[in-house]
Amino acid sequence: MTGFGNHFATEAVAGALPEGRNSPQKPAFGLYAEQLSGTAFTAPRSENRRSWLYRLRPSAAHPPFRRYEGADLFAPGTVDAPLAPNRLRWSPMGYDDEDADWLDSMVTMLASHPPESQSGVAVHIYRASKDMERRAFVSADGELIVIPEQGRVTLLTEMGRIDLKPGEIALVPRGVRFRVTLPDGKARGYVAENHGAPFRLPDLGPIGANGLANPRDFETPVAWFEDVEGDFELVQKYLGSLWSTNLGRSPLDVVAWHGNLAPCKYDLSKFNTINTVSFDHPDPSIFTVLTSPSDMPGTANVDFVIFPPRWMVAEDTFRPPWFHRNVMSEAMGLIHGAYDAKAEGFAPGALSLHNQMAGHGPDVESWRNASEAELKPHKIEDTMAFMVESRWVFRPTEFAVETAQSDYDEAWSGFPKAQVE
Ligand SMILES: [Fe+2]
Repeated sequence: MTGFGNHFATEAVAGALPEGRNSPQKPAFGLYAEQLSGTAFTAPRSENRRSWLYRLRPSAAHPPFRRYEGADLFAPGTVDAPLAPNRLRWSPMGYDDEDADWLDSMVTMLASHPPESQSGVAVHIYRASKDMERRAFVSADGELIVIPEQGRVTLLTEMGRIDLKPGEIALVPRGVRFRVTLPDGKARGYVAENHGAPFRLPDLGPIGANGLANPRDFETPVAWFEDVEGDFELVQKYLGSLWSTNLGRSPLDVVAWHGNLAPCKYDLSKFNTINTVSFDHPDPSIFTVLTSPSDMPGTANVDFVIFPPRWMVAEDTFRPPWFHRNVMSEAMGLIHGAYDAKAEGFAPGALSLHNQMAGHGPDVESWRNASEAELKPHKIEDTMAFMVESRWVFRPTEFAVETAQSDYDEAWSGFPKAQVE
């Protein structure tokens, strides 16, 4: 079903979805009606997100949650020490020797502030080599953007099935349960977990009614369910910790649903990229796919931004991203190809961090090449970098501190001095 944020209605079995009301006295087939809210009941209509789910058993039926003992590197909290204003970068992460499913393979790298603040964002990396079988995951802490980099993943969610490949992203709302299977046997990628206001499409201002990510290109799955009885673990991320319970059935038992709170996917190649046709590189906000606003106008809790293939035609212009220091903080990853501001050290699967007011920009080689290049029209192809940009400073986890590249600052050493006469 297409369209961003639409009110959808879908049933996997004919007649399962009530007509004309949300909670009839006796839903069809004895299904249980359950509302899932993504915003406060009283949020303004334009902000309000909720769906009604019709399921085999109510979500409320479960034993107590207990601390989950796996996934040691997932959600450990960040280093509790004064944060140095250093730029950081990480090489792509390998797969563990022992097979791990998507959940157990998750590694938290960066987070701004704790989830109970209901703002900020965390960045995780997964490197999975086993299907999630008879268990599901749910984050009560935030909405997830899943960004595959290697290998396809299938997200079997409460509200339908999403087949995702590198170059596509999925958006899973806070509270939606899912499990992940790996059609290629292995999969690596990034997850941005948004603790704040749900992502939406950015306003377009003078761009007009069309452009950037167009609403029609977001795809939401139709209802799908599995009827599985017996041991079935549900792992919930809640206030930054992982908790487990045995449901005794699959939670992916929603036979029909309707509403505007639902997972979706988006093919990044459908992004309508806008850039200069005269001179100067515009601010990278021109590449924003999705935004989560904060309470300060124009100052995002999180922006999800991409650097897609595009024509470069600017005259008398240094075409790569310029040198800059920003109030916003930037975590970057690379899905494939090369990023035009870094010649080395930033391979697909890598991660970099440029926090508030950290000076950054092209490395020496990229600067030299771009300064000397003949400025004919040039297409940057076979590339897809992304940025998770936030008004909040990112703090690294202990694992991230231990595994950062030791020589990242060298990217900006060796610039010749300007000669002023
Ligand atoms: Fe930047």
